[in-house]
Amino acid sequence: MTIQTDTSDIVIFDTTMRDGEQSPGASMTHAEKLNLAELLESMGVNVIEAGFPASSVGDFEAVRDIARRSRDSVICGLARSTPGDIDRCGEAVREAARPRIHTFISTSPVHMKHKLQMGPNAVLEAVGRSVAQARNLVDDVEWSAEDATRTEFDFLCKCIDAAIVAGATTINIPDTVGYSHPEEYGRLIRSLRETIPNSDKVIWSTHCHNDLGLAVANSLAGVSNGARQVECTINGLGERAGNAALEEIVMALNVRHDSLPYSTKVDTRKLSSASLMVSRITGFPVQYNKAIVGKNAFAHESGIHQDGMLKNAETYEIMKPEDVGVSKTSLVLGKLSGRHAFNDKLISLGYELDKDSLNAAFKRFKALADRKKHIFDDDILALVDDQLSALGERITFKSLRVVAGSEGPQSADLKVEVDGTPHEASCEGNGPVDAVFNAIRVIVPHTSKLDLFQVHAVTGGTDAQAEVSVRLKGEGIMAMGRASDPDTLVASAKAYINALNKLEARRLKRVAA
Ligand code: KIV
Ligand code: ZN
Repeated sequence: MTIQTDTSDIVIFDTTMRDGEQSPGASMTHAEKLNLAELLESMGVNVIEAGFPASSVGDFEAVRDIARRSRDSVICGLARSTPGDIDRCGEAVREAARPRIHTFISTSPVHMKHKLQMGPNAVLEAVGRSVAQARNLVDDVEWSAEDATRTEFDFLCKCIDAAIVAGATTINIPDTVGYSHPEEYGRLIRSLRETIPNSDKVIWSTHCHNDLGLAVANSLAGVSNGARQVECTINGLGERAGNAALEEIVMALNVRHDSLPYSTKVDTRKLSSASLMVSRITGFPVQYNKAIVGKNAFAHESGIHQDGMLKNAETYEIMKPEDVGVSKTSLVLGKLSGRHAFNDKLISLGYELDKDSLNAAFKRFKALADRKKHIFDDDILALVDDQLSALGERITFKSLRVVAGSEGPQSADLKVEVDGTPHEASCEGNGPVDAVFNAIRVIVPHTSKLDLFQVHAVTGGTDAQAEVSVRLKGEGIMAMGRASDPDTLVASAKAYINALNKLEARRLKRVAA
């Protein structure tokens, strides 16, 4: 297969669900992954790395189901170079309209010696064997040299050559530990392309980690030197300091087309929704001053700036908020809005729900509209995310009555159902939140510890919904739960229960695996 490399089109490869999910605490449920994949596909992302099928039953099922639903995007799974991993990955992506296997092995001296405990010859042999096996299963095979930027150049060339000879169609050069800098990384991509025979038969790809804050700059340097695929994640999620942020790559190419004359297919107006969705799913807040998608990215505070903006937005804005999907006014629906308008709004926010889910979401919307006068985009997003993340839960919240205030003791009367059976408990605590969590612990005894408790107001105003994130940690597993409600304590109880359900589901999957 001949692949054109003299193109200015950049393949955007999203690895939020694989490298992003490797971030401690950033786990996603099956339903959340399906939704995110749907949004990424509708956004025009070319390749979606949906998971690491051999790592768990959950990952396998997520990749398989995303593959089944895919239309245009290539659906990719990650595999180590072992025959078992590659078979499992091939099985998971098999039903995709466009399947890809992404296989990798470490090539740097430090990784080969300490991690793999393999010599260079054995690694080289594994490269050819793994790529050939993958090519027997699918036509589209990506090969990565893990820790490429700390690999000896001649050995890296030999491995890449072996991968191309065995049939790899994309060659990825990861800066696994985020050690490189733009000039060096760009030079590496160029030298590899110039040295390796048949380098024009493959697509060269960047995969840069952000340990020195250089992931986006390094990826762009790679592009300027001939890479035509960029691996990145929404909000820059990923191992340690994360990966190159998709929204930053796409907007840099978009805004600076004058000196970076490359194009992507990504619909930039969906960047904001994607960022919100990933932040909600993982419970990782987006830094206020984060480029492109931070709350302050388009806020002008100082008088001089505001004055300039009023005269002409170009004085201080290099892109328009609408270009990345930030609407000027996000006041949307009210009590009288119908199902159709509600569904249109959901679609514009990146959610396409089936009939039952839509009916349930609409019911929740109506209940919220009865309690809250103005419903904003963020309220709708919180509501739908809540519903999706609670799908199939064994423990469900029923009701809560709390005594709070300066005169103790604070107490909570909680009712829940476990597998459909009603349970209740009344507990005191050191404050109302403690009382609520104690009641949950009485009904569902567990040893997991509370690792994080976070409250945000979904919108402004005293009637704003509270969005609570709870992270539980136990037996080496972590789970993030979240919920929103106009009542902060109800949201806290629901978020804790959500985390507990996820922890239990993950524990069962681990046992099954
Ligand atoms: O950072 C890395 O090296 C990776 C590879 C598995 C591609 O994520
Ligand atoms: Zn990585």
